[in-house]
Amino acid sequence: MSAQHTVLLVGGTGRTGGRVLQQLLERGVNVRAIVRSAERLPADVAGKPGLTVIEADLLTLSDADLLRHARGCDAVISCLGHTISLKGVLGAPHYLVAEAVERLCRAIRASRPEVPVKFILMSSVSVNRAGGLDTYRGAFDRFFMWMMRGLVPPARDNQRAADILQGIGTGDPYLQWVAVRPDTLLEEETTEYSLHEGLVSTLFKPDSTNMGNVAHFMCELATNQATWGDWAGKLPVIINDSAVGE
Ligand SMILES: NC(=O)c1ccc[n+]([C@@H]2O[C@H](COP(=O)([O-])OP(=O)(O)OC[C@H]3O[C@@H](n4cnc5c(N)ncnc54)[C@H](OP(=O)(O)O)[C@@H]3O)[C@@H](O)[C@H]2O)c1
Repeated sequence: MSAQHTVLLVGGTGRTGGRVLQQLLERGVNVRAIVRSAERLPADVAGKPGLTVIEADLLTLSDADLLRHARGCDAVISCLGHTISLKGVLGAPHYLVAEAVERLCRAIRASRPEVPVKFILMSSVSVNRAGGLDTYRGAFDRFFMWMMRGLVPPARDNQRAADILQGIGTGDPYLQWVAVRPDTLLEEETTEYSLHEGLVSTLFKPDSTNMGNVAHFMCELATNQATWGDWAGKLPVIINDSAVGE
């Protein structure tokens, strides 16, 4: 790693976000982690050099405070997701991820960075690329996902969050983005994985993606300029290598 990186991370207490945090620190990256409760962070990161923990609710943090935390970061990573419980899936905030994306993008722009900040979003294969680019899905899959977005708030939220980034496009002077789309998540560490511009499996014959692989790819995006150049402005699908063709 040639330059010293500073990353603002949200969702660092989650299963994927915790792995992102551990891997960033292992790479010597400075991390500012906004979390609701520091107690839920992975046990082995406490007191690690390079880690700053900000205990706050991201959605109610003042604009001025969020701007202060975003200023000076060269990447922002969101691994937020709705807690898997009845309250987490059906209760407020229905647009947790989208509201967080909106707030973070606003803070990045307000900080007027000299070099565009990299925004890396944990998204999902349930999310479509704009312009009907994900042609792999058949009519039944598309109808099912349309129904899911109507009925299940998190599915709608993930699409809305990705649409905010797709709406920003690739010409913003202050931020560039990548929305990472894992398939079915497994609580496993880093293995070989592959990246694809579009969908490679159907909803009813899904592939799998280790959380460790999502974390590894997000860290590569944050710290490796060549990887960033390959994927900026895109929604790469990430799946385990062993999953290909299963
Ligand atoms: N399950 C799958 O197969 C799959 C596949 C593809 C994509 N995804 C997407 O990936 C996301 C992340 O997955 P994961 O399993 O790593 O998530 P996770 O372990 O459930 O972690 C969720 C994170 O979001 C935070 N969070 C939840 N509600 C919040 C709120 N109201 N305000 C602030 N923070 C809040 C949690 O913080 P606290 O610790 O404070 O609760 C936690 O850090 C999923 O939610 C989904 O959108 C999932």
